[in-house]
Amino acid sequence: MNRRDFLKGTAWMGAAAFAGGFARPLFAGEAGGKMALWADKPFKKLRVGVVGLGRGHVALWNMPKIHGCEITAICDITPIRVTRALTMVAQAGQKSVPKVYDKGPEDWKCLCDDPNVDLVWNSTPWALHVPIALYAMRAGKHVAIEVPAAFTVEECWELVETSEKLQRHCMQLENCCYGEMEMLCLNLCRKGMLGDLVHGEGAYIHDLRGHNYARWDPKTGYAWDIPGGAYWNHWRLKHNIAHKGNQYPTHGLGPICQYMNVNRGDRFDYLVSLESNQFNFEQYAQRNWHKDWRPEAKVAMGDMNITLIKTKGGRSIMVQHDISSPRPYSRINTVSGTRGIFADYPYRVGWEPADKRGSGVHSFFDEKKAEEVRQEYKHPLWKDYGELAAKQGGHGGMDFMMTLRLAYCLRLGLPLDQNVYDLASWSSLCELTEKSVRSGSTPQQIPDFTRGAWQTTAPLGIESADLAKMGLEG
Ligand SMILES: NC(=O)c1ccc[n+]([C@@H]2O[C@H](COP(=O)([O-])OP(=O)(O)OC[C@H]3O[C@@H](n4cnc5c(N)ncnc54)[C@H](O)[C@@H]3O)[C@@H](O)[C@H]2O)c1
Repeated sequence: MNRRDFLKGTAWMGAAAFAGGFARPLFAGEAGGKMALWADKPFKKLRVGVVGLGRGHVALWNMPKIHGCEITAICDITPIRVTRALTMVAQAGQKSVPKVYDKGPEDWKCLCDDPNVDLVWNSTPWALHVPIALYAMRAGKHVAIEVPAAFTVEECWELVETSEKLQRHCMQLENCCYGEMEMLCLNLCRKGMLGDLVHGEGAYIHDLRGHNYARWDPKTGYAWDIPGGAYWNHWRLKHNIAHKGNQYPTHGLGPICQYMNVNRGDRFDYLVSLESNQFNFEQYAQRNWHKDWRPEAKVAMGDMNITLIKTKGGRSIMVQHDISSPRPYSRINTVSGTRGIFADYPYRVGWEPADKRGSGVHSFFDEKKAEEVRQEYKHPLWKDYGELAAKQGGHGGMDFMMTLRLAYCLRLGLPLDQNVYDLASWSSLCELTEKSVRSGSTPQQIPDFTRGAWQTTAPLGIESADLAKMGLEG
């Protein structure tokens, strides 16, 4: 079977995969952490309902391409987004037409209650992430939530406890964990090329001033006054006006946590957070006057937030957030260990030769050697599906990789790569960094959402996932 067959779907999920038939907890711990390696029964057909049809396009465009997956329902309150979503699903090759839920701001409840939906894909503005996720799980559905999934420690606990109690998956759609560079780095870490990991650095540095202030045009679903995107009802700017701290921590942090086995052998201990004052948003607002966002609308969020995390295993992590400064995009994506270093933006790598340990890495490998490393240690997922992912598009293909892995694990009845504990610990930074910043950078303890299970949970197995081989089984 070639890759195309795998996706178009012939025999990639045979009888063996469906033999289980019932939900089966794979993790024995009673006290907590029981979703860490939990898997539901396999799904012969995965029926997906998408709420929020902006970023929701990731599901609309990719799910119909994956064998056995179908978009059965969509929901939005902006008519043009619904029309466009229906076109996109058809263009993605799906024959059936999804049921439309567009009867107002609470119609997502009907989508969650729809018996033809197995997975609720939640790509709504931030205030709706947790209410929809809780409702969906209580309606018996698995749920995947855009980033950050939750904004307070209390919300994180509520998602963990609901997921555990009802045995429903609650995954955060952290697509950056599936980037080619991130998966290359994961592979290098797993193969020990960097030695024991000591320090990681991640970030979300993305100039989003235009997006934040642009006015949403309900007729087109885009900005009408500033080129580029716009957020529905200024939801993101409103959040930034009210909050300090890192309110978008997971893109930089998620991959570092996977390299370091956070929640699977190590865990966060505490953090301290510091941030600059706000200069850029307000200057931008003054230059681009809008009657609904006057310069006197003070933005609480500083331009640059820097957070330091110490793990129980003694490692250090630095995470930055800056969405308002005129500077190039970066997630930093850097990790160093007792043998070498991987750095991104731009990609560089270097390690001590096996026979010269202790000799140091005083410069990165040259371009030729770095390219050889990139090819030799390419993650199996990217080896097998990189070409296809690039064709599908979406953040260089990582959106497709994430969708593929999520669909694949659900369909085969495998534990997910990112579980509800990852969701909770990564998202808890939103509140904890704000608390630290507002109290003079005081240390904040980070809860152990696994309630001890981090000590016994096996490291993420994605590094050895061979989708082509698994697809052929059965
Ligand atoms: N992972 C990534 O790379 C990435 C990229 C972009 C956005 N996001 C996340 O995706 C989410 C959505 O962002 P976006 O850029 O699509 O925002 P957006 O403002 O473009 O889209 C939000 C959509 O939600 C709809 N909506 C609002 N209230 C609703 C309700 N009550 N019921 C149904 N629909 C409703 C709006 O009409 C709009 O179509 C956010 O959580 C954001 O952080 C993630």
